[in-house]
Amino acid sequence: MKVIPIASVCGRTVRAPERAPEATFAGGGAASVADAADAWHLIGEVGQCFDSNDCLGVTIDAVKVGLFRVDGEIHALDDVCTHGNALLSDGFLDGHEIECPLHAGLVDVRTGKGTTAPIVRDTRRHEVRIDGGNLYVRLSR
Ligand code: FES
Repeated sequence: MKVIPIASVCGRTVRAPERAPEATFAGGGAASVADAADAWHLIGEVGQCFDSNDCLGVTIDAVKVGLFRVDGEIHALDDVCTHGNALLSDGFLDGHEIECPLHAGLVDVRTGKGTTAPIVRDTRRHEVRIDGGNLYVRLSR
């Protein structure tokens, strides 16, 4: 299987398979991820994606995505802060809020809502699925 590097902004580099050839999810049929615009992207095995930091930055189709694990649930947001040029996955996760490392604005990782100034625009969310122990992300358009 071809492997591409996924840059992590949590202080390490994660390698993950480029794409899953096909994934089947509970409640539905097979979801082809080959070339569809709404493809599910395989990030890797859930147990190996996160360290104690519970945040991970990856790049999917040139989109920087921040993944945040809270109480065993994983949330995906655009990683670039809507206030400036900082990566949320470089921030500090406290409960369901990620604190931007540049100006300390807070974003709720469940909703993408900015909860404190200076963040006034919401952060785009992406879909997350876990199947067979693997973590997948589908980009919102
Ligand atoms: S860059 Fe994130 S709060 Fe300013």
